[in-house]
Amino acid sequence: MLKVVILAAGRGTRMRSARPKVLHALAGRSLLAHVLDTARMLDPAEMRVVVGHGGEKVQAATPDEDIVWCWQHEQRGTGHAVQQAMAGVAEGDRVLVLYGDVPLIRDVTLRDLLVAAEQAPLALLTAVVDDPAGYGRILRDAEGHVRAIREHKDATEAERAVREINTGIMAVEGGALLRWLDQLDTDNAQGELYLTDIVEMAVAEGQTVGTVTVRDDREVAGVNTRGQLADLERAAQRREAEWLMNQGVTLADPARIDVRGHLLVGQDIFVDVNCVFEGTVRLGDGVQIEAGCVIRDCVIGPGVRVKAHSVLEGARIAEGAQVGPFARLRPGTELGPEARIGNFVEIKQATIGAASKVNHLSYVGDAEVGRDVNIGAGTITCNYDGARKHRTLIGDDVFVGSDTQLIAPVSVGSGATIGAGSTITRDVRPGVLALSRPRQVERPEWKRPGYRDED
Ligand code: UD1
Ligand code: CA
Repeated sequence: MLKVVILAAGRGTRMRSARPKVLHALAGRSLLAHVLDTARMLDPAEMRVVVGHGGEKVQAATPDEDIVWCWQHEQRGTGHAVQQAMAGVAEGDRVLVLYGDVPLIRDVTLRDLLVAAEQAPLALLTAVVDDPAGYGRILRDAEGHVRAIREHKDATEAERAVREINTGIMAVEGGALLRWLDQLDTDNAQGELYLTDIVEMAVAEGQTVGTVTVRDDREVAGVNTRGQLADLERAAQRREAEWLMNQGVTLADPARIDVRGHLLVGQDIFVDVNCVFEGTVRLGDGVQIEAGCVIRDCVIGPGVRVKAHSVLEGARIAEGAQVGPFARLRPGTELGPEARIGNFVEIKQATIGAASKVNHLSYVGDAEVGRDVNIGAGTITCNYDGARKHRTLIGDDVFVGSDTQLIAPVSVGSGATIGAGSTITRDVRPGVLALSRPRQVERPEWKRPGYRDED
């Protein structure tokens, strides 16, 4: 059985943060959530997370029910951490060790490692890097067989010249791991229990040690500082951008898109620069998103155009609709096919029917608007009386003149027209013209205050 052990007990001192390191966000999810999601793709029998520093916070932020939490109260090294997660591990199990602060590891790489681990009781994931300082070095003999891992602090000058490093990720047979963990000691430069010492134990038993070497260093890069976190954020976004382009999305600039969650796409979508997608967003075929939009938890139908600098959250938009520029759609917005929402318009908890238009400077909240409705500039649904929210109902084919206030609860029957500048306090019957504005007057005798008579 495959048992995944994720090490996440470290303090993360260099983050200078009150938040445990593995809870820092990358592409909208915690570092740990990335590792867990990848581990899940391997369908493990069990996932154990070793926590210590800030462990309660890590647990609280990670409510996933498929995790077995293991405590390492004192951080006495990676070997000690793995020891805390061995309950129930049996001979014949495969234990895959992952790090909670190495978020971009891919499932395909781990599958390669697990294949290597079918041939040998121990298989290591290694990388060849330009600057190996700080890492454990992979020491091989003349035939290329792995002999040991030497930690940087324990290494000689010659050993430090080796550029193949231990990523820390490894797969080990359960019985062998239990046996080797029992033999660890602290006889090293850091006085810790090094997990890496199991390599020499395997070699002493005459075992060959399997290795898989990653091609892409970003997969095994760890986060120790905010700078590294920012670098990995860009790497994660680059990976996302490549995936989107492979799905048939055109990105104006793959370096200027941020996906913090799940972006599900059809074909022939265009996304201009500096758009941010959060939560789960679905884009239908042919959607166009102009520059600078922020879109969270929305379903956007085929052919929809979202013009520049619009902010959309919790909206469902049917095919062919247009939104923006500078529009704000709040949760509960539903736009029908071919609807138009223009600049400086806010919509909340409202349905806007097919081909209806709210083109300028309006607030429509807690409302149901029918089809083919025209809402003039500056129309406000006055939905809040200071204590409760009330609904506004507008039938099909209604024309609402500019600068109208609809004092909810109120309904406007189909085909009605509302004169500009009206304050509508009572229901309007279908087909009528309703207006509520004082008659215009002129006062020729009136003078502006302070206006002096010249003669
Ligand atoms: C370890 C490896 C080193 C490898 C490097 C890759 C050992 C002895 N060394 O280095 O060969 O090149 O990772 O980054 O294994 N952790 C715990 N409890 C502990 C100690 C560590 O949970 O007591 C966790 C940390 O939170 C971190 C991971 O283990 O996620 C690695 O620890 P870290 O101290 O960063 O790595 P090193 O021990 O320096
Ligand atoms: Ca350490």
